[in-house]
Order: sequence, then structure tokens, then C-alpha cells
Amino acid sequence: MHTITLFANKGGLGRTIATMALASGFLAQGKRVAVMDCTDLAGGSSDGRFPSTLQNWMTQMAACKFRPPQLELIECRTRDEVEDGAAAADTRGIDILLIDTKARLEEPQLAALGLADLIIAPAISPVEAKCIVEGISDYLGCPEHLMGLITGCRNGALEAAETRKAFRYHPVLRSELPWAEAISDQLLNGDIAHFVSSFACKPDKPGFARYRDALKAWVAVQQLTFEVTWALEGQRLEPFIGDQSPFAFKRKAVA
Ligand SMILES: Nc1ncnc2c1ncn2[C@@H]1O[C@H](COP(=O)(O)OP(=O)(O)OP(=O)(O)O)[C@@H](O)[C@H]1O
Ligand SMILES: [Mg+2]
Repeated sequence: MHTITLFANKGGLGRTIATMALASGFLAQGKRVAVMDCTDLAGGSSDGRFPSTLQNWMTQMAACKFRPPQLELIECRTRDEVEDGAAAADTRGIDILLIDTKARLEEPQLAALGLADLIIAPAISPVEAKCIVEGISDYLGCPEHLMGLITGCRNGALEAAETRKAFRYHPVLRSELPWAEAISDQLLNGDIAHFVSSFACKPDKPGFARYRDALKAWVAVQQLTFEVTWALEGQRLEPFIGDQSPFAFKRKAVA
């Protein structure tokens, strides 16, 4: 089993959105996926009246026909639950464990970082990337297995390039998560592939523009998922430029 932890020491940077999108990507590859909720919302409210974000998403995913053992939700509030949940998922034959965390790192989130084969840090702009670089060094020094992810950069290629640079010596996934309805509305629609196929139509039909945009977003998610799969195997699509890194990758650049 491979474990991927989504990390950002600031709220609203796209950890949960990226967790859900990658789950759709890995499910499309035929993998067995577990999503671990390691946020304050894990488990929803104690009376069950207010489900958590990921519980709502699971309901939509079940409506898209994804159920255990293909897709599972593990909800953790303590370090022990994180470690036991991951070990049990591995035993059950889960291929990919995606862990969603919160901005403030406490014991369960630190455990989630400790378990990660790959830490993915999403950022929308250079300010956030800088904040992540500073934040991660407080907890983990300079982890070799952290990769930045540009999510939903609405201000074009220039800002995306600046965000990439702001990650400094940390590698950044070359594939980006675009700003798109298919990605932002996963709570309403569940699986991205299912959403796209549900309103597929020909170019001369009404709704074609919406379908085309959703399809573009789904292709971007699949590209990202493949790149993450390669990263888990130690391969990087992007070589370091002006290497400021305190470590060297063993295998690099196979684009
Ligand atoms: N690629 C994207 N496309 C569209 N919307 C996005 C994208 N990335 C993030 N968003 C939007 O940004 C908001 C924050 O995203 P998300 O909830 O995933 O962040 P988070 O890091 O999990 O935040 P929190 O601290 O609340 O847990 C959401 O409303 C989401 O719809
Ligand atoms: Mg979240």
C-alpha cells in the first residue's frame, strides 16, 4: 500500500478537493482506495445529524457505485486511530491510502505525515507555497518526499510559474489541478469520471461547452494521478533547476 498525505499549514488551500480528485483518479486506474479523514470534521457531529465533508462525498461516491472494498472512508481523531487505521487498510488489500489533514498539526496529523510515502502540498498562489515551505521545515526539516501541487490557479500561467518558484528546492508536480466545476463540485457530483460521462453530448447539442470543460478537467486529474503514481516509484518528471537542494534524487526526469 502507498500512503499519500495532503499537507498545508493554512486553511482553504485545496487539501480536501485534491484528496477527492486523486481518489477518482486512482479508482479509474482500478486501484482500491481508502480515504482517511484526519481533520477536525472526522466522524461528523456526535449525534450524526451533521455529516462531515468526506462523509457527504462518500454518499455521492456510493451513488456512483463506488463502495467498499473499492473505496473506503477511515475516520481518525487520535494518533493511534491513524496508525491502526493505516495498518488495517494495508491488511485489507488497499492499494492507495489518501490522508486529508487540517492546517494545525497535532498528534494525528503528525502521525499522518510520518506514515506518508509521499506528502503533497497544494498551493493556489506564491504566498501559500512560501508558507508551506516555512511550515514544513518546522515539523520535518526538508523532507525528500514532499511535492508541491498547484491547484486552481485562476490568474494564469504567470502566477502558476511564480507559485512553482516559491516552493524553492521542493519539487513541484508538473501536472496541475485546474479550477473547474467538475473539481469544485465533487461534493455534489461524487466521482469526476461519472460526472463527466453523465452529460456527455455531441458538439451541436446544448451543454457541449460544460461537457468539454469537465472533460478537460478530468483529463488533468488523470494526468496528475499518473504523475503521482510515478512519484511514488521515485520518479520525478521535473528535474531541479539551479539545484538549491540539500539532497539529490536517485532517479529523475523520465518525461
Ligand atoms: N482546483 C479547484 N477547482 C475549483 N475549486 C477549488 C479548487 N481547489 C480548491 N477549490 C475550492 O477552494 C475551497 C477550499 O478547498 P478545500 O476545502 O479543498 O481546502 P482545504 O485545504 O481542505 O480547506 P480546509 O482548511 O477548510 O480543510 C473549496 O470551496 C473548493 O471548492
Ligand atoms: Mg479540508
